Amino acid sequence: MTDKYAVFGNPIAHSKSPLIHGFFAKDTAQDLEYEAILAPVDEFASSLGEFWKRGGKGANVTVPFKEQAFNLCDELSEEAKLAGAVNTLTVQANGVIRGDNTDGLGLVADLKRHMGELNGLTVLLVGAGGASRGSVLPLLQSGISKLTIVNRTQVKAERLVEIFSGYGEVCALPMEHDNQSYDIIINSTSSSLTGEVPNLSTQVIATSTVCYDMMYGKEPTSFNVWAKEQGAKLTLDGLGMLVGQAAQSFAIWRKVKPSVEPVLAELRAQL
Ligand code: ATR
Repeated sequence: MTDKYAVFGNPIAHSKSPLIHGFFAKDTAQDLEYEAILAPVDEFASSLGEFWKRGGKGANVTVPFKEQAFNLCDELSEEAKLAGAVNTLTVQANGVIRGDNTDGLGLVADLKRHMGELNGLTVLLVGAGGASRGSVLPLLQSGISKLTIVNRTQVKAERLVEIFSGYGEVCALPMEHDNQSYDIIINSTSSSLTGEVPNLSTQVIATSTVCYDMMYGKEPTSFNVWAKEQGAKLTLDGLGMLVGQAAQSFAIWRKVKPSVEPVLAELRAQL
C-alpha cells in the first residue's frame, strides 16, 4: 500500500510542502502520497488522530500547531525538546509517535550549501520568537565559534540564552548597541512581512558578511535590501530553509536524502 503523509496547518491552501515532497518522492523513487490538511484551530489533535487512523505514517506541522504537536508526542528529538515545538511527526514501528524539529537543521543545511563548513564563524541571530528558538541548537552544533542573539524585546533573547547556555557559546546583547561585525547575520524576525528592518547598528555588517533572511518572496526582502546597502557580501532568503527542513523530514521518514536543487529551482520560478 502507498504510504501516506500530510502537512497540517491553518491556513494551509498555499503550503508548498505537497509540491516539495512530490519532487522528493520522484527523485528518490519512493511510493508515497502527501496531502495538505486544513485542521480547525481547536481541532488539531482530533484531525491528526483521524489521519493516523487512515494509516498516515508521518506528518509535517506548520503554523499554528507546532506547540500543540510537541505536546502530543510520545518521544522527542533533542532539537524538538529545546525548541518546544515540533514540525515533523513520525509513527514508529511500535506505534510510538516521535516528534522532530527540522526547521533549524534546514537552515544550517542551507547555509552550508551556500558557504561550505561553518567552523569558527561568528553568527548574529536577530529575533527571539519561535523561528529563532528552533534554530539555536542546530546553529550551536554546526561548528560556529559563537552565537549572539539580539531582539527588539531584549529579555526574550536573554531567556533563550538561559535555555541554551549549556549547549555552546551563546550570549544576548542589546540590539541597537551591538557594534561588532559578524560572519553571518540571520534575520528570524517577521519584520520583512511589513517591509521593516530590525533596528541594528550598521556596523554589524562587514564586507565579508553573509546575511540570511528566513522570509522570502519574489522581490528581495526588506532586510536583504538593507543588508546589501550596508555592503554585505551575499544575501540569502529563506526559500532554501523551507526546502531544507522538508528534506530533513523526508530523510527521517524514508531514510534517504533527496536532492534539494530541482525543487528549489521550481519554487523560485513560481514566486
Ligand atoms: P515566529 O514564530 O515567526 O518567530 P514570533 O514567535 O511571534 O514569530 O516572533 C516574532 C519575532 O519577530 C520576535 O522576535 C519579534 O520581536 P519582539 O519579541 O520584540 O516582539 C520580532 N519582530 C516582529 N516584527 C519586528 C520588527 N518590525 N522589528 C524587529 N523585530 C520584529
